[in-house]
Amino acid sequence: MDHFSLRDGGLHAEDVDLTAIADAVGTPVYVYSTATIERHVRVFRDALAALRDPWVCFAVKANPNRAVLATMAAMGLGADVVSGGELLRAVGAGIDPTRIIFSGVGKTAEEMALGLAHGIGQFNIESEPEAEMLSQVAAAAGRVAPIAFRVNPAVDAGTHGKISTGRADDKFGVAYDRAEAAYARAAELPGLHVQGIAVHIGSQLTDLAPSRAAFARIGTLLGALRERGHAIATVDLGGGLGVPYNPALPAPPSPAAYGAMVAEVTAGWDVRLAFEPGRVIVGNAGVLLARVIRVKEGVAHPFIVVDAGMNDLLRPSLYEAWHDIRAVRPTGARATAHVVGPICETGDTFARDREMDRVAAGDLVAFMTAGAYGATMASTYNSRALTPEVMVRGSDWAVVRAREPLEALLAADRLPPWIEGEQA
Ligand code: LLP
Repeated sequence: MDHFSLRDGGLHAEDVDLTAIADAVGTPVYVYSTATIERHVRVFRDALAALRDPWVCFAVKANPNRAVLATMAAMGLGADVVSGGELLRAVGAGIDPTRIIFSGVGKTAEEMALGLAHGIGQFNIESEPEAEMLSQVAAAAGRVAPIAFRVNPAVDAGTHGKISTGRADDKFGVAYDRAEAAYARAAELPGLHVQGIAVHIGSQLTDLAPSRAAFARIGTLLGALRERGHAIATVDLGGGLGVPYNPALPAPPSPAAYGAMVAEVTAGWDVRLAFEPGRVIVGNAGVLLARVIRVKEGVAHPFIVVDAGMNDLLRPSLYEAWHDIRAVRPTGARATAHVVGPICETGDTFARDREMDRVAAGDLVAFMTAGAYGATMASTYNSRALTPEVMVRGSDWAVVRAREPLEALLAADRLPPWIEGEQA
């Protein structure tokens, strides 16, 4: 459920007319609904109510905007971060560092030191060499790093190949069969406190069976590790729960169904569970607003050329992702069209042969369910400025990321002295 709805003939975010935002800020622009974010946090938490003090650590990668993170902080969420930048954003937005989990296969020594300096709650270690490096960094700093190994359970999540992470040959985690050896080695290393196990099999999961299988394997490993004397107190079950993008497809499992599955599989584990939801919290809390530049004739169907491109919303181009596209002021007329951006690539296509609201040049359209992996994956390709972001709360709204002036984009380049000299 989200708080984007038609009122008085126009699409609103909560009590704010999206046309008013587009007119004031310009397009393209991302718009987030606070009520939707808060609702999803509550729904996710309620789904875990049967568990003992679970940690909900928002996956910052899904939407790292400071206002979004501050909303999470106000609700007492922790964070899952994958870079020094995300760590600084989470801490800067007021998220409790002891509830921050640092994931990722490529943490550098500098990023490890940053995490230690902030006293974060857990490092999810993805390989034995990474454990060795963290041990050295922690020992040199006179600190002890709380760690879990992220274990690759060799389970196919059944999602898009580019966002599957738990198959045996994916780059993530320590191989399941190597896990016991990795724990044995880590227990001997200085500067590490081995406290947990972590697993994450992929994103936009629409079936609970692969997660259930992966968690069951983690349960087996938990027993084996305890038998060998490791005091495992935490298990991080990752994120990944999918959201509905296409209303014509069956809805993914609800957070309640997910929570019930987790409670069943983890019964008797006697650990504190952690979760790293991203998309399910912010996915349908955001839309990308764009304006139709022109409608161009095509062979079978017209091309609706909008002023947002793959640089603003990469998902359709990168993953063939489906986003609902709605007119902000629908007339009731429908048409079939291709929706494309202005970028010079055929891949800059948001939809083909899409039956949708009929729109004309100058009309506004909303790309729905764009709150996760939208603005954060934007780029300046084709020398286009990064997309601004707006947050709505009730009848209030505010720009939470300003439109970058093109001058700022251009000013970042430098000429090397040999060319500058020629131009002088
Ligand atoms: N934890 C870990 C270790 C992850 O790698 C991810 C996502 C999450 C949690 C959060 O997953 P979520 O609950 O949001 O599914 N750019 C892609 C998604 C990439 C997901 C990467 N990892 C997309 O637009 O679909």
